[in-house]
Amino acid sequence: MHCAARATGALICLVFSGCANRAGPATMPTGTGASAPAQAVLTPHNLEELMKKIGPAHKSLRQRLETNDTAQSAKEAQQLAEWFGGVEKFWAQHDRNDAVTWAGQARSQASDAAGAAAAGNVEKATTAANDMAGACRQCHSAYRESDAAGGYRIKRGVITP
Ligand code: HEC
Repeated sequence: MHCAARATGALICLVFSGCANRAGPATMPTGTGASAPAQAVLTPHNLEELMKKIGPAHKSLRQRLETNDTAQSAKEAQQLAEWFGGVEKFWAQHDRNDAVTWAGQARSQASDAAGAAAAGNVEKATTAANDMAGACRQCHSAYRESDAAGGYRIKRGVITP
């Protein structure tokens, strides 16, 4: 267990240092998701940043699978798994076990999709990518609401500042 957690942490660091190099430090908000030190408390802003990446990436993953682009699909699904690791951590830190479960489901479905895509199994990868939508829906109906500006936020009262 301990080793697995450490390995995941290392992977997240790898992925995020990759992002940081591309985006440059100026555009990388400090403390976002897993780029923050492991013990850092993630804020609602961090969750929003993750969701703004997860939304387009999930859509893109499904489109790539439709065109049998297994190599990019595998990368994108792996990236989603890392981001959902951050989402899971956010909800664990804010004591919402149901949300932790949904985020964990999405993370493991993303990993399944990555593994299947890497092995060239488009059908299996597509099933896993489609199944992820169930976790998105459940968590959104429990914890997400529209803000006044045409976007979204965490429902009022869920997070105690
Ligand atoms: C464990 C809970 C949880 C899961 C799982 C989850 N979300 Fe979210 N998501 C949220 C919450 C809470 C918000 C509102 C936060 C915000 O946008 O500030 C949100 C916001 C969003 C937004 C709007 C971001 C913005 O502010 O513009 C998108 C897009 C999104 N999620 C996509 C997804 C997709 C796609 C999945 C599944 C592949 C997913 N989410 C899974 C909790 C979750």
